[in-house]
Order: sequence, then structure tokens, then C-alpha cells
Amino acid sequence: MRTYFVLAISIVVFLSSCGDKKTATGHTEYDLKVDSLMALMSLEEKLGQLNLPTAGDFTTGSKKSTGIVAKIKEGKVGALFNLSGVEKIRAAQKVAVEESRLGIPLLFGMDVIHGYKTIFPIPLGLSCTWDMDLIERSARIAAQEATADGLVWTFSPMIDVSRDPRWGRVSEGAGEDPYLVSEISKAMVRGYQGTDLSQNNTMMACAKHFALYGAPEAGREYNTVDMSRIRMYNEYFPPFKAAVDQGVGTLMAAFNEIDGLPATGNKWLLTEVLREQWGFEGFVVSDYTGVDEMIKHGLGDTLRVASLGLDAGCDMDMVSEAYLNYLKKALDEDLITMDVIDRACRRILLAKYRLGLFDDPYKYCDSNRSGSEIFTPGNRAEARSIAAQSFVLLKNEGNILPLEKSGTIALVGPMADNARNMAGTWSVAGDFEKSISVRQGIENLLGENVDILYAKGSNIYSDPALEALVSVFGKPTYRDNRSEEVLIREAVSIARKADVIVAAMGEAAESSGECSSMTSIEFPDNQRRLLEALLKTGKPVVLVLFNGRPLAIKWEKENVPAILDVWFGGSEAGDAIADVLFGDVNPSGKLCMTFPQNTGQIPIYYNSKNTGRPLEGDWFEKFKSNYLDVSNEPVYPFGYGLSYTTYEYSEITANSTTLKGNEILKLSVDVTNSGDMDGKEVVQLYIRDMVGSVSRPVSELKDFQKVEIKAGETRTVGFEITTDDLKFYNYNLDYGWEPGDFKIMIGTNSSDLKTIDLNWIK
Ligand code: BGC
Repeated sequence: MRTYFVLAISIVVFLSSCGDKKTATGHTEYDLKVDSLMALMSLEEKLGQLNLPTAGDFTTGSKKSTGIVAKIKEGKVGALFNLSGVEKIRAAQKVAVEESRLGIPLLFGMDVIHGYKTIFPIPLGLSCTWDMDLIERSARIAAQEATADGLVWTFSPMIDVSRDPRWGRVSEGAGEDPYLVSEISKAMVRGYQGTDLSQNNTMMACAKHFALYGAPEAGREYNTVDMSRIRMYNEYFPPFKAAVDQGVGTLMAAFNEIDGLPATGNKWLLTEVLREQWGFEGFVVSDYTGVDEMIKHGLGDTLRVASLGLDAGCDMDMVSEAYLNYLKKALDEDLITMDVIDRACRRILLAKYRLGLFDDPYKYCDSNRSGSEIFTPGNRAEARSIAAQSFVLLKNEGNILPLEKSGTIALVGPMADNARNMAGTWSVAGDFEKSISVRQGIENLLGENVDILYAKGSNIYSDPALEALVSVFGKPTYRDNRSEEVLIREAVSIARKADVIVAAMGEAAESSGECSSMTSIEFPDNQRRLLEALLKTGKPVVLVLFNGRPLAIKWEKENVPAILDVWFGGSEAGDAIADVLFGDVNPSGKLCMTFPQNTGQIPIYYNSKNTGRPLEGDWFEKFKSNYLDVSNEPVYPFGYGLSYTTYEYSEITANSTTLKGNEILKLSVDVTNSGDMDGKEVVQLYIRDMVGSVSRPVSELKDFQKVEIKAGETRTVGFEITTDDLKFYNYNLDYGWEPGDFKIMIGTNSSDLKTIDLNWIK
């Protein structure tokens, strides 16, 4: 056995000493190495490479994997996830490399979604920065920390376009817009993977969930999806195509069905679209038990679904072990071919070569790094600054904000003193007790200069059973069992003594995230009663809103003078909130998802179609597309966000309003900071294609720039548009642009825009 193992190691090491460059035959040297290695592998060992069990340090699904060490020894494991820490990872890798017959190293993965130990804002918040450098930077830091702790593969970014805030996982995505999500997709992949995947501080990304996972019927998690192909291509696929173009190493197949076939077993999606149309060369992993779940989708028994998944192009099986246990039988019964097994095995081995794991299987297991590169003061400072830039100022009547750094503050609300909820959902590796609460953040910033009076004031929900469901994963809500009246009375009594009331309210961290769908996204009624009582004191109230999804806050908009949406800002949230509340940072975030008036308006999104009977005048009009009970307007539109300063936009200047073929349209606007504070503004450019061979959206984001403008300064912001920006998939799913009339719109959010009309001919 020992001799065999030494031989195996030397073969593997010899094979790994070359590169990823193409030879004269068009193959890379890694291809040749994989060929040589695969020639040594038994069928069982090949199937082992396709197997991804969970090591169980964290739970991200209901089924557990068992007997992992024995399986690694037998060559039955290709990768492992949810194991954390250099020592544990080194030990598992040692078993693979030294005790399995061929010594093939394992991949170690984890859901590093918005930071590792240093936690950044939840992705929905991070996306509201509209700052691609900063988003890339957050992924870079996450990769540095995760690789310092032994990991090499993250199941991120989640780039599912979604227009349904009932679906709790909107918190983990980048919002409703295909263009913005695509830009974020590229930035995240660049951040994780860097320019060289074989470095020991870069990690392989996994774009998920391919595809349409963000469009479940009624927003219910894992529910059926049914969508036209033209919508898939124009609206839901672009972020994935962008990730592929950016060189993402892996994709994860979604749980949902597409045209009646679960994504995991959908050959059209995983092979025709992904490989043949887009040229993806990495590997596809199923979602957690996604292969097995095809049984419950009604696609047959394990033998059949395992065959379906592999044949479709799902290369690695997460947790089901259906590939491991059934594909040999499937081969014997001619349900699959040896070629498809080899194809999947090859893709996975290639990834291991590219990562340099054959050169050094322990390259991510450096305890010096784990001791010095994780949760560092530098990383935390960056997280604090990024968090502050993710906050969206929704309202600031009478310039209540920023607050004075003196006097007495009444700090109330269920999120005011809850450090453990600050990280937000999907932060599996975080040490939540080290996060900074709002109370702590204000104390850190202001010390003795202010008096802070604190009362919780309300629980998250009046229903204890509902609250128990979101008091999970190490993020307790610390329910206060006193009556609602007593809680409110206590809050009002301190509010009366204060100069200003800061109310940290909204959702708990786990009110959103996976399997946290809600049929109602209204602001919790018990918290609204607290707000009413606070407002009645006559003191100024600042609502610091915590949420992992757009909430229906029409009443709050109408009644509360100042609202700062802080999402879940990550480990440094409290300090970042204090920075913005007291004016050390001027808020610059812009919404990446529309806020509806009520749950019934969902789905509501800015880039909708016009319909044949659009409401063009005032609401209400009979026989027009509108509702009897509420108008079509959102509470806050896509792209919206205020600042402590004000910006004024000039009319648009264009080099021409009649363009031809390959000409470049050059546009500019002058944006003046007309207030008295320096700030950052996201200047947004939208286009409407007035006539098409198919109906086109009323507006589509095509470009944006985040610019710093000093108080009193005017900046000219320029854009260049070519016909590439006008392209879309037509009825036949051909991609191209159509000559005709266009409306160009530039402004501060999707419904406050300057416009010009132009004609673009062939
Ligand atoms: C989620 C994935 C995640 C996986 C592994 C699943 O439940 O849908 O996004 O990567 O678990 O934790």
C-alpha cells in the first residue's frame, strides 16, 4: 500500500510540473496531464472526483454526509465543503494525498458570500454602493481571508436577478437589474479569482444559481419557475454570461425547474446554452442535494436522476452521493456513457491543476497566514468604509441628518443593541459576537460627548413563533417577553428625555436569506405601533432601517422624517452606521431594487413593458393598466438614494441626435453639487428603444458612473454609447440591434431623468 502511494504521489507531482498553455495540437498541457492521470484511474475513482460531501462544520442544508474520512481514503471524494480552519483542512487533505491510492488533492469549498471573518454588507446592500472597485475589493479581502484559512473555492457570487422581495434570498443577490447585476457579477469574480488562480490568496468562484432561481412563483423558496426564453436571455441570463466571460471557474445549478426540467438535469441549459453558446470551460456543481431532489420533482428514481444530471452537464454532485452510488449501474445499463463520466472528471481535475493543487496540495494551509491575515484591523477598516457606502438615505426631511455630536439620544428598537444580527444572513464563518452593534458604534464614535438612553421598545414581530423562526444560526433576537405596552412605555419614557430618537428597526438578519420567504413584506405592525408612539412625543425620529429585502414602508415614508436604510452592514455595521448618522460619511448608496407600496404590487420593477394600455395620465383611469386601490408608483424607485448634499443636473448634451451604424454617441451632463458637503453621486444612464420587432422595456440601465463632487463644484460626466449597447435577443433569440428611434435618459434615479430623443440608422 505504502509503495503504491509513493508511486502515486510521484506520478501526480511529475504530472503537475507543466502549465495551462495550449500545445500545437490545441490542447493545454494540463489537458495532457489530466489524460495521463485519468489513464490510471478506476471507474470508482473517477466517480469519486464527482462527489462533494459536506464536512458538517456548519449546516447549510438538511441532509448530512457520513463516513467522510473512509471515503476520502477510498478515493470517493473529489471536494469537501463547510470544513473550516487550516488544521482541519490540512488533516483532510493529508488523508486524500497520502492515504488514497492516487493521492489526488481535494478542493475545499464554503459559502464565503459577503466576507469570511471580516463581514461586508449583505450582497443586496453591497450592490447599493454601485461601486465596482469597492465590490471587487470586498471579494478580494474575502478571498484573502478564506484562503488564509485553508479554503480554495467559494460558492459565490449569487447573481440571480430577482424582482420579488417576498423571496428571502434577494438579500444574497444584487437586485432586479440585468445590467447592474452583470457588472457586479464580473467585479465579484475578478475579486475572488484575481488575475492568477494559482496564487495562494485567490480562490475559485462559483456563479449561482444557474438559472432563474430568483423567479419562483409567489416568491416561495424552491417553487416552480416558468418563464419565456426571450425573458431568460434578455433579463435573467446576462449576469451568468458575464461571469463566464470573466472566466468564472464554476457554476452552480439551481434547484428550480426550467421548462419543466430541473436545472440540475437540464441539458439545454447546462450544455447547449452554457457550453455551446457561451463556451464555458469550467465545471458545474449541483446545489445541495439538487441531484436527489429531482426524484421529488417527479423525474424518477435515483438511478434515473443521477444519469439525467450527469448527462445534462452537472459535473459534481453536492451531498446527494447519487453519482457515487448509482452511476456505475447507470453505465452498466447504458443510461449514460463512459464519455460523460470522463468529461465531468476531466473538468474537475483541470480545475485542481489550474489552482496549483497538484504542485502543492497544502498551499492554502499556512497557519502563519491564518494567524495574521484574518479579521485584521485593516480589513475591518475597509469593511466599515464599504458598509457606510452601502447605506441608502431614503428620506431626510428638514435635514435632521446628520445628527449633532452632542446632547441626548434615545436609542430604541430591536436592532439597536444586537451585535449578533449585524452580519446579516449567509455569513457562515463569522464570529458574530465580535460584530459592532449600533449602540456600540455610537459609543465608539462619540464617547462621553453624548448621553445615550437605550430601550428595546419592541420585539421584531409580535408573534413569538415567527420570531423564533428567525432567531437562528447564532443570531438570536433576544426576545423580551414583557407586553408590547410595557416595552413601548419604557421607550417613550426615555424618548421624552432625549433631543432626538434613533430607532433601529425592521427585520432580523434571518428574516431574509435561504428559505425565508414571506407572503407579506409590510413593516412589522408591532414595530409600527412603537414608531407611532415615538412620533407622538414630538421629538425628531430617525428610522435606521434593517432589512434583507425591500419592505413596504409607505406609512413610514409618509410619517417618519428621516429614514436611513442600512440593510445588514456586516461585522463593522455599528461603526459605519455611526459614521453616517453623525456626518463623518455622506451617504451615497442607491437602491438596486424597487420598494413597493404593498406586497400586492409585486413584482414591480423599473424596466417593465409598456403594455397596450399604459396609464399615461394620473391614476386612476378605467381601461388602463392600473389598480383600483393603489397607484402604479413604487414607494422608492430603482436607483433612488439621497445625500446630505444636493445635486443638480443640466440638460443632456449629445454629439449628434442622428447616428449611423458604427458611430459613437457621446453624451454628457453637468452635475453640480449645490449643497455644502462633499459627496458621491451615481449618475445613471437609461435607454428606451421606442420601436422593436418585439416589445421593449420602457427603460433599461445601460451605464452609470459614481463620481465624487466637492461642495459647490460642477462635474461634467461623459458617456459613450455604441450599437452594442442597443442589442437584445429578438423573437428568434438572435442577438442584435434594430435601427430606429431611441430615448436617452440620464439622471439621479430611474424616475428622475433628463431625456433626449435620437434616431440611429443602419
Ligand atoms: C444553497 C447554495 C449553497 C449550498 C451550500 C444551498 O442550500 O442554495 O447557495 O451554496 O446550499 O451551502
